[in-house]
Amino acid sequence: MSLLIFLVLILSIGASSASNATNNKRFPENFLWGCGTSAYQIEGGWNADGKGPSIWDNITHENPNFIKDGKNADVSADSYHKYEVDIAMLKELGVNFYRFSISWPRVLPTGFPDNVNQPGVLYYKNLIAELRSNGIEPVVTMYHNDLPQTLQDRDGIKNPDFVDWFAQYSRFCFQTFGDDVHYWLTINEPYVACTIGFYSVVYVDGIDDYVCMKNFLLAHATAWHIYHEELKMKGKVGIVLNSNWFEPETNSTEDLEASERTMQFIWGWLGHPLYKGDYPEIMKIRVANRSKLEGYNQSRIQELTSEEIAFAKGTNDFFAANTYTTSMVKRIPEAPIGTPSHNKDLGVESYQPSNWQSTGLDWLKVVPWGMRKLLKWIKNEYSNPPILITENGYADSTGELEDTSRMNYIRDYLSYIRDAMEYDGVNVIGYSYWSLMDNFEWVSGYTAKFGVINVNFTDPERTRTRKLSSYYYEKVIRNRCLVDDCQD
Ligand SMILES: *[C@@H]1O[C@H](CO)[C@@H](O)[C@H](O)[C@H]1NC(C)=O
Ligand SMILES: *[C@@H]1O[C@H](CO)[C@@H](O)[C@H](O)[C@H]1NC(C)=O
Ligand SMILES: *[C@@H]1O[C@H](CO)[C@@H](O)[C@H](O)[C@H]1NC(C)=O
Ligand SMILES: *[C@@H]1O[C@H](CO)[C@@H](O)[C@H](O)[C@H]1NC(C)=O
Ligand SMILES: *[C@@H]1O[C@H](CO)[C@@H](O)[C@H](O)[C@H]1NC(C)=O
Ligand SMILES: *[C@@H]1O[C@H](CO)[C@@H](O)[C@H](O)[C@H]1NC(C)=O
Repeated sequence: MSLLIFLVLILSIGASSASNATNNKRFPENFLWGCGTSAYQIEGGWNADGKGPSIWDNITHENPNFIKDGKNADVSADSYHKYEVDIAMLKELGVNFYRFSISWPRVLPTGFPDNVNQPGVLYYKNLIAELRSNGIEPVVTMYHNDLPQTLQDRDGIKNPDFVDWFAQYSRFCFQTFGDDVHYWLTINEPYVACTIGFYSVVYVDGIDDYVCMKNFLLAHATAWHIYHEELKMKGKVGIVLNSNWFEPETNSTEDLEASERTMQFIWGWLGHPLYKGDYPEIMKIRVANRSKLEGYNQSRIQELTSEEIAFAKGTNDFFAANTYTTSMVKRIPEAPIGTPSHNKDLGVESYQPSNWQSTGLDWLKVVPWGMRKLLKWIKNEYSNPPILITENGYADSTGELEDTSRMNYIRDYLSYIRDAMEYDGVNVIGYSYWSLMDNFEWVSGYTAKFGVINVNFTDPERTRTRKLSSYYYEKVIRNRCLVDDCQD
């Protein structure tokens, strides 16, 4: 290493650590603080009181190898029986809201509202009433991965009828719970669901994923129109988009373009139709081009009609974002034409340097500075929408109580969020830490723990114990500030 490069390194390390001090400004008074969970991950009671099976009940029972530790969420944290304990903990934390999801097959076991499971409805009515009586706003996700198995037996999301199935389900939710719920989230992480989640083993890469995303988009837009136009209800409806920030490896035109292209392919896949109308141009061009060379007579992307474009545009009342980490991206040579694939359509390489701080999950590196860049990108791309961060969190494999790494993660990510608000004028309206408590982390089973509260999964009582990070988060919420010495 030359002396000059050495000096530049020393200087830049000095400069970046100095500029990364924790933001000490108070968050606005109306900033919303919360914690999140989802039905399948915490509830248990998988067949209690008339609940129907979901695709996750089915796959964990029939194919345990799909899950890292071979386990399922038949009981999990048993929140179906312990929701009052959960709410008491939320009260202690002092959160303004709780983001949870309704299990579709718990309320509609066959998927359709001609067969309502009243005990399931009562469970959510009680949960919502208990939250309200404790001054905690419910933020309700309608679809968080647990599709009724009956609908999967009809091809699930890729069936064009899914749009109508979801319309019926969402109308049922709005009518049944809508008087007491003012924030609705239609679908959680459609990108993950269609490309790397459950459906990655069921759907064909480069084909069904485009159909899946289109149906989620139209299902969301239909729910939004039902809520505002048919039912004329007064709350807000959004869809939860997710991914990483994608940092260009260098400042070369190629890598900058690769970064922007990745953002458009992932965030823009539905963000563009929702805010600007239609899929991103770069995505349409690339998928159409490769489809043609592969011998398809039309683009695999399933172009939206002008009616569909108009129908979906403007149907997101706030930008709900789940984000945990950052990846580096660089341009790579065009993949040879062959079997279709979404990643070949995207055509970049992304990776996470091995010296980034790791966690209990391979894909989750601690990269707080990516948060500010992501928020700024969303602001500039979609004309400064109100942003609710619906998920952000740290996983370890132990569930340890002295979780200083999680505490630092919360502090550093929130610091960059506060920076984005202060220096970039990003309109962040709230933050929901994922997760309130340790739970079943999908294919990782119980090997990854995100909670600020520990759950003892070997204890029949599923005893909950607060971790260190929960005390820090409580203090942050109380002071609206990340440090002891705050500035207004
Ligand atoms: C500080 O932030 C910069 C970018 O904002 C980032 O490149 C650097 O890695 C950060 N340093 C630390 C120690 O987090
Ligand atoms: C799920 O259930 C259906 C019947 O409803 C069955 O045909 C299928 O094989 C099951 N397993 C998986 C992994 O989907
Ligand atoms: C790219 O340019 C930006 C702004 O000039 C600079 O902050 C950043 O360090 C550069 N990145 C690389 C990898 O050189
Ligand atoms: C279409 O793809 C081919 C090879 O994959 C590439 O050479 C060409 O530039 C592409 N055209 C456009 C318009 O992107
Ligand atoms: C395009 O191909 C599909 C099958 O891949 C076929 O059903 C359809 O008729 C074709 N359309 C035209 C216009 O050739
Ligand atoms: C979890 O619960 C089991 C059964 O009650 C108990 O034996 C064990 O000590 C508990 N673990 C911890 C860490 O408290």
